[in-house]
Amino acid sequence: VFIVRFLPSRKIAHLHSSASILEAAREAGVGIESTCGGKHKCGKCKVVVKSDPQSLSPPDEIEQKILGPSLLQRGYRLACMARVSKDTSVFVPRESRSAAQVILTSARDLPSPNSLRSPLKAYDIEVPPPTLSSPIADRERLLNLMASEYRLPHLATDPHVVRKIPFALRQNEGKVAVMVRKGQEIIGISEKKYSTAWGVAVDLGSTTIVAYLVDLFGANIVATKSTMNPQIPYGDDVISRISFCQQEAHGLQKLHKAAISAINGLIAEACEAADIMPEHIMEVAVVGNTAMHHFFLGVDPRFVSLAPYAPCLSSAQAYKASELGIKISNSGYVYLPPIKAGFVGSDSIACVLSTGLYRSRTNSLLIDIGTNGEIVLGNRDRMICCSTAAGPAFEGGHVKWGMRAASGAIEQVRIDPKTLDVTLSTIHGQQPIGICGSGLISAVAELIRTGCISHRGSFNKDLNTNRLRKGQRGMEFVLSWKEENPTGHDIVITQKDIAELQMAKGAIRAGISILMESLGSDIKRIYLAGAGGNYIDPSDAQTIGLIPSPPGCRIIGCGNAAGHGACLALIDLKSRRHAEKIANKMEYVELAGSARFQDLFFSHMFFEPPH
Ligand code: FES
Repeated sequence: VFIVRFLPSRKIAHLHSSASILEAAREAGVGIESTCGGKHKCGKCKVVVKSDPQSLSPPDEIEQKILGPSLLQRGYRLACMARVSKDTSVFVPRESRSAAQVILTSARDLPSPNSLRSPLKAYDIEVPPPTLSSPIADRERLLNLMASEYRLPHLATDPHVVRKIPFALRQNEGKVAVMVRKGQEIIGISEKKYSTAWGVAVDLGSTTIVAYLVDLFGANIVATKSTMNPQIPYGDDVISRISFCQQEAHGLQKLHKAAISAINGLIAEACEAADIMPEHIMEVAVVGNTAMHHFFLGVDPRFVSLAPYAPCLSSAQAYKASELGIKISNSGYVYLPPIKAGFVGSDSIACVLSTGLYRSRTNSLLIDIGTNGEIVLGNRDRMICCSTAAGPAFEGGHVKWGMRAASGAIEQVRIDPKTLDVTLSTIHGQQPIGICGSGLISAVAELIRTGCISHRGSFNKDLNTNRLRKGQRGMEFVLSWKEENPTGHDIVITQKDIAELQMAKGAIRAGISILMESLGSDIKRIYLAGAGGNYIDPSDAQTIGLIPSPPGCRIIGCGNAAGHGACLALIDLKSRRHAEKIANKMEYVELAGSARFQDLFFSHMFFEPPH
């Protein structure tokens, strides 16, 4: 057994065979950034060996190239490449620690309960006892009365409910309350009246998971709980996680279990906050991108990542929660709204539902900015959507000082046009330790406004400032001097970082242009969804050309629209029908292999000159 000690957390992994430091960190529950999912590409998983350097396998050529001689000399190693050959200790530097992203939990108010059709309805009924002359079975007496008094014939019952019926009917002179789902099945029976039905809506994101505990009859969110997605150590984005599934034995089960146990944890926390038991929850609705939807169901998503990117299933589903390991009432259900395509999941459908785009007379544009930019353009007559592989730049990936939107991430940059002095805003006002997606957009927007970079994205070498300098890999601009931050290094934005942003914004903007070519450019509202979208300053996004600027158009950050859409699907059968219609009606445009998309992508990589 090898022992790996992690500092400064002092957590320990016991390995039964040689494994990488990254695998040991997963085992010990130590979060190490691994943007590329351990594929030796991102260089984010740096650790410093603190014991005998021989305790790790020697760095190969690729590792030497990524780290460079100076870091290697100082004991730096890549956690995904260095393999343990005897007991060792490693220090995880601050910039390599998985930071907890600021989680967007706010879901807007839910509609008035009078306007909703709840999937669950409670009925009070008095069931007479059996007699010697008519010893009809308990379940049948109950079902006969439900049919005659409430016109609910053919109600189903599962074994959990059947087991309770004889006792419930004999507690209170046959007076019982029953909970009926969609007029089709009794999912609860109690000798006491039901004051409400409890449900949980879940936004199962690749990075964060948010659960809303909802009083279904009052249409109130009573508790909101969130967590980082515990699948992150297996890969930052869904493609890395899909390849983890393909390469690792039991990889799919690990990812499935991680999602299920995180959701169970959130349900338990929300119940504790509201002082109810998880067994009181009768219905759960889960939205997520297609890969997360498949992981949640334990379905292998590998074909989603291969052309023609077909998902395993796309229509709306309802399963007994117990079949999926979701710990609520034994008879409760999990509802999954439909997905549209391999890269347009039920989270996008939930966003369309939440924003009301599908009811709008005029064109609205909805953009969920992340590793994949899902884009929907449309109105009540026609909707089209696409998904573009923007890459990880908007989430801080492939960017030298990139990080998630966590405490200490630079989120806004202002540059004085005369002195080129820099003013930074960071998340939670902490000292800067890196730059998140909105910070990168803001920095590049300011570099454009102040003429520090050209419309092609190259630094203007004639600038008279010591902030612009030649770095190890080309030109770079210093955002924070090492004396101003706790990392011990200057935080810079490099020419390569700008190129990463150009590719990401080129992809999203080209997707938008393709949709506009079909539906017209007269857009009255632009909704920016997802964590990325909410923190981006609209004028910065327009300056870098990420979003168009149609005249008279409002730009709206729509909070956690996927979470709000999940709540609507949880509480209202009409919203479920709308979600299903949206999925059917929305046209999907495949961009892979489109020559027009390629042309637009290259032209949108450039920046517009400042006005
Ligand atoms: S280089 Fe190690 S996780 Fe990316």
